Amino acid sequence: MPIKSEAATKRIYLDYNATTPLDPTVAEIIVTNLTEAWGNPSSLYPEGVKAKNVIATAREQTAKGIGAVASDILFTSGGTEANNWVISSTIEHFKQRSQAESKLKPHIISTTIEHDAISLPLSHFREKGEIDVTFVPVNKERGFVTPEDVVNAIRPNTCLVTVIMANNETGAIMPIAEISKLVKERNSSVLIHTDAAQAIGKIPVDVGLLGVDYLTIVGHKIYGPRIGALYIKGLLQNGGAPLYKIFHGGGQERNLRPGTENTAPIAGLGKAVEIASDSVKEFAAAMKMTRDHLEKRLKDDFQDAVVFNCASSCRLPNTCSVAFIGKNREGYNLVKKICGFSCSTGSACHANECKPSQILLEFNIPFEIAANTLRLSTGRETTVADIDKVVDELKHLLLP
Ligand SMILES: Cc1ncc(COP(=O)(O)O)c(C=O)c1O
Repeated sequence: MPIKSEAATKRIYLDYNATTPLDPTVAEIIVTNLTEAWGNPSSLYPEGVKAKNVIATAREQTAKGIGAVASDILFTSGGTEANNWVISSTIEHFKQRSQAESKLKPHIISTTIEHDAISLPLSHFREKGEIDVTFVPVNKERGFVTPEDVVNAIRPNTCLVTVIMANNETGAIMPIAEISKLVKERNSSVLIHTDAAQAIGKIPVDVGLLGVDYLTIVGHKIYGPRIGALYIKGLLQNGGAPLYKIFHGGGQERNLRPGTENTAPIAGLGKAVEIASDSVKEFAAAMKMTRDHLEKRLKDDFQDAVVFNCASSCRLPNTCSVAFIGKNREGYNLVKKICGFSCSTGSACHANECKPSQILLEFNIPFEIAANTLRLSTGRETTVADIDKVVDELKHLLLP
């Protein structure tokens, strides 16, 4: 720290929940391994062994960063794949386990505030008639999904509970440890997954403390490469969480995700997780300092014309979801007018939409406020001077 990359210095970048620039140490490791660890990791001669060792180190680093063991980590193309894999595996597991016993479809419990990489595969399987799904809403008074509501949704055919660890739009943190505890007390065979894409590097993440069976890791949210990883508790062990092949092929990744390994980005992901977890306290403090400065400046300058969404919730230290009250202040209009900095109205996947984010509405944020919301998310290298420039531009655009 501070990290200086082109992406971060040219304009003021305030959309670190969408993606992050590469950490220079991570970039160096990727480049070095592209040229030096190019051997096929399955080959038995030294070039192959070198690549295999690089992957083993990355697996150790990734596991250690979330309190897991290396044998419980598989590398994926990203978060979308990891999330889809958990869903399809747990459906398959239910079908195989209950073939003779039950005519019921597998039932999955999730929430109304998931990223598309969870909500859309679930809707897809439901539309195909393969599963039943309950999307648990956010509790109006408490501002997060309550563990009791999740537990009350459990049915005899429930095979998976999947709840996002921290929401990408509001930063609201869900009580995953409590959910896991109560779900397992009710029915220990129900599997639990959390998508920790937004949480790693911003708050401590430990699979043991969370009590989950699966956890999704995303490289590009933690200054790493565009790949990901999946944690699977006790993978391939007796009593471990089940996982079924995603592809069929050459046997790599314990024959569950075959295909010649992407050695250099995997090395980068390991390093990115290591840096993110080793320094999470410092990073969180730095991001919170600039986010809090941003919210204070906005409050001082805009007074009653700003509303902060989910500000009283337990939330990520870097995320500011703010609405500017008044006519012609819709978020999608504002982002087009802003010149000096980058931000979004919500998830990057919905950047082209001219309507309020469904996720914000699910957080019980009124329509007019959701429509006028911007998501500003600070990063490790954001400075107070950056924030002052951002507020100055917003004042210039919005105040008479
Ligand atoms: C919470 C969450 N889950 C999953 C994803 C998808 O990850 P990937 O882009 O690696 O597929 C994202 C990325 O935007 C995210 O924010």
